[in-house]
Amino acid sequence: MQIEQNISLKHYNTFGIDVNAKHFVSISSIKDLKTVLALKDYPDKLILGGGSNMLLTKDLDILVIHINIKGISIEKEEENYVLVKAHAGESWHEFILWCLGNNYGGIENLSLIPGNVGTAPIQNIGAYGVELKDTFVSCDAINIKTQEATTFFKEDCKFGYRSSIFKQEEKGKFVITSVTFKLTKKNHVLKMNYGAIKTELSSQGIKSPTIKDISKTVIAIRQSKLPDPKRIGNSGSFFKNPIIPKSVFNNLQEHFSDIPSYPVSKTEVKVPAGWLIEKAGFKGKQFGDYGVHKNQALVLVNYGGASGLDILNLSRLIQKTIKRLFNISIEAEVNIL
Ligand code: EPU
Repeated sequence: MQIEQNISLKHYNTFGIDVNAKHFVSISSIKDLKTVLALKDYPDKLILGGGSNMLLTKDLDILVIHINIKGISIEKEEENYVLVKAHAGESWHEFILWCLGNNYGGIENLSLIPGNVGTAPIQNIGAYGVELKDTFVSCDAINIKTQEATTFFKEDCKFGYRSSIFKQEEKGKFVITSVTFKLTKKNHVLKMNYGAIKTELSSQGIKSPTIKDISKTVIAIRQSKLPDPKRIGNSGSFFKNPIIPKSVFNNLQEHFSDIPSYPVSKTEVKVPAGWLIEKAGFKGKQFGDYGVHKNQALVLVNYGGASGLDILNLSRLIQKTIKRLFNISIEAEVNIL
């Protein structure tokens, strides 16, 4: 474990924003993590996972701790299911590939989501009809202040749409070091309700898909809509889909008859922010080195040399415009630092 000085974070965030960390350390064991958290010389610390859900807008005059703790193990195995523990520094997609290689099912719809295992519970990652919480059993975490180890079970985590206790009341207080999932070994429950999955499977003539087929289908859908962060900097959906009262929605529908929505509760609906942003004319717009992705308006992109402030200002312009046109506030999904 070595603390380095003045390190560029360009390759540690999927937006590819070039800011400097004054101090930087990569951690590969829980023991080293506890040691570094206890260091009094660095009172302010930032925990960094895969850097796939953050927008860096300035140099960080603090200690950045990159969580690189690896390892996947089977905790328990029964006839029909298995409990698998993955450490925080494992790449999320590589972990899925490992599960598919062993024919463990449950997270195949979450294929190709960028980021690491340890940060996945924070925003309860979700896609194509599945959320992390559906297979989550528990996560182990270290208290940043006391360095004590704690286990959070599913009910402790208060998972919601792109949300958990780690984004709410316990924000910034814990480092997740591993996550345990309950996965199926046979009789896999395939989630194919999402329209695009059905269409893609039938266009390929697949009638009885396997979990690998679902994964391949999700990968194909994502690749057709979402930019690959290795080629074009981005952080997936920049905004959350807003949840609005039905009464507000009904009013909007009078003006915009094609506005889509998903039911949330008796009184609320979710509206795709991508639709609002597209309707506001931003889809595919490029402003120099940054812009709005041409195939999915929810995704802001860095074509190369954009600064975090460029992207932040664009996001504010989009928020203001959506507010003015639809009277809806859209909230950033990514963490802005
Ligand atoms: N839409 C548009 N224009 C766009 C994008 C979307 O009109 O440019 C409308 C269309 O009506 C479309 C609907 O929005 O049918 C839904 O679009 P999509 O299936 O792409 O899903 P989304 O609601 O835009 C959410 C997640 C994605 C996830 C997909 C699939 C959020 C904030 N985003 O997007 O998550 O992959 O569903 O489940 O909930 C991410 O979090 O980084 C992410 C990519």
